[in-house]
Amino acid sequence: MKFETQTSEQSQAIIDRHKAVMFPAIAPYYGEHPIVVERAKDQYLWDIEGNRYLDFFGGVLTVSVGHANDEINERVMQQLQLAQHTSTLYINEIMVKVAEKVVQLAPGRLAKCYFTSSGTEANETAIMAARMYTGNDVIVALRHAYSGRTMTAMSVTAHNTWRLGNVTDPSIRHVRNPYVYRAPLNLSAEEVVELCVRDLEETLQTVTGGRIAAFMAEPIQGVGGFIVPPAEYFKRILPLVKEAGGVFIADEVQTGWGRTGHKWFGIEQWGVEPDMMTFAKGMANGFPIGATLATPEIAEAVQGLTFATFGGNPLTMTAALATIEYIEKYDLPKNAAERGAELRARLVQFQQEYDFIGDVRGMGLMQALEIVVPNTDKTPDAPRTAQLLNAARRQGLLIGKGGLYGNTVRIAPHLNVTQQDITAGCDMLHAALAELKGKS
Ligand SMILES: Cc1ncc(COP(=O)(O)O)c(C=O)c1O
Repeated sequence: MKFETQTSEQSQAIIDRHKAVMFPAIAPYYGEHPIVVERAKDQYLWDIEGNRYLDFFGGVLTVSVGHANDEINERVMQQLQLAQHTSTLYINEIMVKVAEKVVQLAPGRLAKCYFTSSGTEANETAIMAARMYTGNDVIVALRHAYSGRTMTAMSVTAHNTWRLGNVTDPSIRHVRNPYVYRAPLNLSAEEVVELCVRDLEETLQTVTGGRIAAFMAEPIQGVGGFIVPPAEYFKRILPLVKEAGGVFIADEVQTGWGRTGHKWFGIEQWGVEPDMMTFAKGMANGFPIGATLATPEIAEAVQGLTFATFGGNPLTMTAALATIEYIEKYDLPKNAAERGAELRARLVQFQQEYDFIGDVRGMGLMQALEIVVPNTDKTPDAPRTAQLLNAARRQGLLIGKGGLYGNTVRIAPHLNVTQQDITAGCDMLHAALAELKGKS
């Protein structure tokens, strides 16, 4: 399966119209040749030229159980006939059912939900709740974090390319992230943890009043390029956070709902308990959702009026409940671990074959390749990464990009991916890598 990615007259006309009426900063993948989607079903997506792609990115880890999944759609369709919109001013039972399910699956003492429409809003809500609960302002976040696109969420985000419009929230402090592959002075994983602990200590002592509202982190940094912390990282960091009066917000927008394998939530891989978790993306298989989950006392501290027009929307809630029940019914956290291990094994083989693959990392069905210039000190190679995305597309495979330097390939198939599709996808990726061999 190999096609030319010539843009047809038909898609060019739509691309031109898109350019004419959309903000130019909204940049689709594939440069001058973006994909114009016609339809998508299960593991496949078709462009309007009729090319079929195996989708290993799922609209950024969002189509968690396949495009237009029949079991999800059937329930959403039924709900559409019943009630489409209520706002948070009225109670609909489906919202209560989702909250009950989330609370049942969540670790520790997390017991109260707030629904919104995006990961950004989920994080804003968590930050607001942490500040109201603790009475403190400072949010400690990690370098290379991605948190969303409101002014506060962009202030937490630590990639300058994603911080637009003079981001100036004065109460965000960024500390070193546990990025072992790019550790200074080639420090070991243990030494990186030590460095991160020291950096947090110094940050608390030097640029805060010693008291903080929260430490906010992704269990595995997503946009940052699937940066997996060493096993001891969170266990070492959290006592300092507690000592400074802060709560721990785990941003599970990418890592939640079985993605990392075996466990429901990414943070459970690290043996620590968050005080809040935030969700979006894969929770409703593509319906716009945000959810903030907190302990009872944190939720209780949010006093005053709050409202979300689309929070708990019956269609979104139906999709969320159906998605979570689908993940449960087919034990997809287990599938994510098993298929993820197969994917990882192939990626490790590719690394032995291609010297421009500097690092292979990830967990479960979130796996990454970091692309570097061979025979250098890990010099990031963004142009070759872009070429690899294009080459994979020509083979019929959709994968993602990420990392501060734009040199990380992100591979995140739907959680119900089959062994056959992992093989097919890896074969396509292998052919794409072969196309790039020797190119500079
Ligand atoms: C970890 C993380 N948090 C928050 C967000 C923001 O979510 P949204 O784009 O739904 O606002 C994202 C989006 O990529 C994310 O990856």
